Amino acid sequence: MTSVISEPEIHKGLANVVVDYTSISKVSTDTNSLLYRGYPVQELSAKCSFEEVAYLLWYGELPSASQLSSLCDSERPQRSLDPQVKALIDTIPLTAHPMDVLRSATSLIGALDPRANDNSKAANLEKAISLFAKLPAVVAYDQRRRHSLGVVEPRGDLGYDENFLYMTFGEVPDKVVVDAFRTSMILYAEHSFNASTFTARVVTSTLSDIYSAVVAAIAALKGPLHGGANEAVMHTFDEIGSADNVISWLDSALGRKAKIMGFGHRVYKNGDSRVPIMKASLDALVRHYGRWEIAELYAQLEAAMAARNGIKPNLDYPSGPAYHLMGFDTATFTPIFVAARVTGWTAHVMEQYSTNSLIRPLSYYNGPEERHLH
Ligand code: COA
Repeated sequence: MTSVISEPEIHKGLANVVVDYTSISKVSTDTNSLLYRGYPVQELSAKCSFEEVAYLLWYGELPSASQLSSLCDSERPQRSLDPQVKALIDTIPLTAHPMDVLRSATSLIGALDPRANDNSKAANLEKAISLFAKLPAVVAYDQRRRHSLGVVEPRGDLGYDENFLYMTFGEVPDKVVVDAFRTSMILYAEHSFNASTFTARVVTSTLSDIYSAVVAAIAALKGPLHGGANEAVMHTFDEIGSADNVISWLDSALGRKAKIMGFGHRVYKNGDSRVPIMKASLDALVRHYGRWEIAELYAQLEAAMAARNGIKPNLDYPSGPAYHLMGFDTATFTPIFVAARVTGWTAHVMEQYSTNSLIRPLSYYNGPEERHLH
């Protein structure tokens, strides 16, 4: 008699599976809220600098004035790119996606760090600050080289967000633009066990180093179902062209069973808590640049999706056109997301080390029964 082993419940995509504790952020779908270390992201984006939010994610508390100034003293001198990193980027063809450039550059930044394999909390905090400082320079350098523009060296007298924009565009834009950019960075900084953060935690759980975890997280974020969606939203806008075309474009896309980028979310099923904040920043940019056609297309597509299937926008929907209005190339949107999320990833890496258990799920085999070579 053969014993019958009942098939276990399969949690495809790990949907609704709780795999560990975290004290870094809390996503509540019932109240549609997102807390970083207990603080609502709405309050943080209204009142804090990105440096303060980064500190909060890493240390668990907002910094005092002297703690903030010591973070800035450590971050600002590290904003320049190492010549070897510049040289590596220059060897990468312009046909490569900026996410591939950022992934490769991050890998080299790690390889150049003699303390890469020191996994102590103190060393990892320093490495987190170093990545936080350096990634904007990679993003800015890559966008500029694609336009045959020379490097703009960082300025130590500017805050993180102003300096990021300065290195990319060669000038500090108006306050409304800096504010919208800072808001996007704070909103993108952290979001519990999403695919890229979980990837970083899986790599960390093998006791690999923080740079390897971040490189793997970048790879996971690249996909259009995750971070790549902010870029894909802009391609959608370009393809639709104008608000008049929304209905025909959407009917045709849904008829092909295509996923509409920037809509839907694995966790939020009644709307993404971050969207209203980012939408207000997008509206401010639309007014600033007088680009009403973008607002019109945005509103039409959102309304048409609501009418067709009730699926609501996620953060990538307003942030894609916002980055476009700021002047970033579409392919640069996901690398900006990386520069923001590296704060959350590195906080999770440190949390994973502190309570580590190797992440190794099981699978249910459904291939051929045992067989033999003849
Ligand atoms: N466009 C069209 N239909 C969508 C959709 C979208 N953006 N998102 C979900 N749906 C539909 C699915 O086709 C599915 O329909 P069905 O039941 O008829 O098959 C249903 O809604 C449930 O979707 P599902 O894929 O199971 O949800 P999920 O939780 O696994 O997926 C995402 C979440 C984010 C992967 C999905 O919404 C998506 O692909 N969105 C577009 C990419 C994106 O914006 N990603 C950024 C996320 S922050």
